[in-house]
Amino acid sequence: MTEKKTEKKLGFATRAIHDGQEPDPLTGAVTVPIYATSTYQQEEIGKHKGHEYARVSNPTRSALEENLASLEGGSSAHVFGSGMAAITALCTMMKTGDHVVCTENMYGGTTRLFNQVLVNYGISFTYVDSSDAEKVARVIRPNTKLVHIETPTNPMMGLTDIRAVAEMCHSRGVELSVDNTFMSPYFQQPIALGADIVMHSTTKFLNGHSDGLGGVLVCTRPEHKEKFSFVQKCTGGILSPFECWLLLRGVKTLAVRMKQHDANGRAVAEWLAKHPRVKKVFYPGLPEHPQHALAKRQMTGFGSMIALETGSLENANTLLKSVRLCTLAESLGGVETLISHPATMTHASIGAEARAKIGITDGLVRISVGIEEVEDLIADLNQALSHLV
Ligand SMILES: Cc1ncc(COP(=O)(O)O)c(C=O)c1O
Repeated sequence: MTEKKTEKKLGFATRAIHDGQEPDPLTGAVTVPIYATSTYQQEEIGKHKGHEYARVSNPTRSALEENLASLEGGSSAHVFGSGMAAITALCTMMKTGDHVVCTENMYGGTTRLFNQVLVNYGISFTYVDSSDAEKVARVIRPNTKLVHIETPTNPMMGLTDIRAVAEMCHSRGVELSVDNTFMSPYFQQPIALGADIVMHSTTKFLNGHSDGLGGVLVCTRPEHKEKFSFVQKCTGGILSPFECWLLLRGVKTLAVRMKQHDANGRAVAEWLAKHPRVKKVFYPGLPEHPQHALAKRQMTGFGSMIALETGSLENANTLLKSVRLCTLAESLGGVETLISHPATMTHASIGAEARAKIGITDGLVRISVGIEEVEDLIADLNQALSHLV
């Protein structure tokens, strides 16, 4: 940012559009160009313009990383080829013998990575109901290095009090990372609440258009910056310049999109909660959500992720195959409404027993409400729900 622009901290929507995105010094291009290059000319040994090789750094990626660090209130950001690649990078903080405590209901792919890959390297994981900071405290061990939470959880929409868990972690010398994918920095700022690292699948709301994968770690300390820049360079799971550019483009409209996601999410959740064929709705914006008060305190909106109980696998399947406007697909956070079945899709890999423990039934359906006209979405869900028994 120029000196003029940094005189005082600009608002979120302004930073989403401008931070990291000065007009291109070479051409004046207002939009950050896609620097499609694998390497950079050097004038003599050790003399270059700040970039040597694209696995290490790329100007399109640097612009994006500066932008995302600003939006989350962090000191550095490190983007990777997917959300899972970002979580994998996060876990390089651990060495053999270290222990991690995590929210018991997380995205199934995260649990799969921990239980089926990382345990083979001598790292152990304990899953806990992190809605209660005391319960988290009770499973901390002398070798616990990290507490990793997801809030709201995927798909049960359970919340963790970030401030309470952060304080508890810091009193025990443990770092806290937060998967902020469901809220985006627009509605939830975990670093301001005490988190050390924020992680996103940028594939979701940050990109917002379902046209690119990505992941990010936003950090708060110089040693994090050193560590994760080194991990990018060593492991190479970085985001391509094109996908960085897509993400920069998506983030410019994050504020307006999130406002509409939130308005549509509230309207659909309230409507579903009154529908006679819907057994239960899981949405933190509903007063009956057990952590509604916490949601109001730690988030500035409720977002557009909703889970609903249809009562049976048959009902779930009927709903999913009857929708016409909502699309049956994995993923979330795009402008279009996606509807999915956690038990056979996102959480198939954790197994029936683990699903039962966290309340993912065969009748559970998850909706990522898009930013279409909400009346059209409600009309579609209404006709689809009319087929349920
Ligand atoms: C909350 C959450 N975290 C992480 C991921 C993994 O991200 P990606 O699919 O970009 O690897 C997902 C994917 O759905 C997710 O929902």
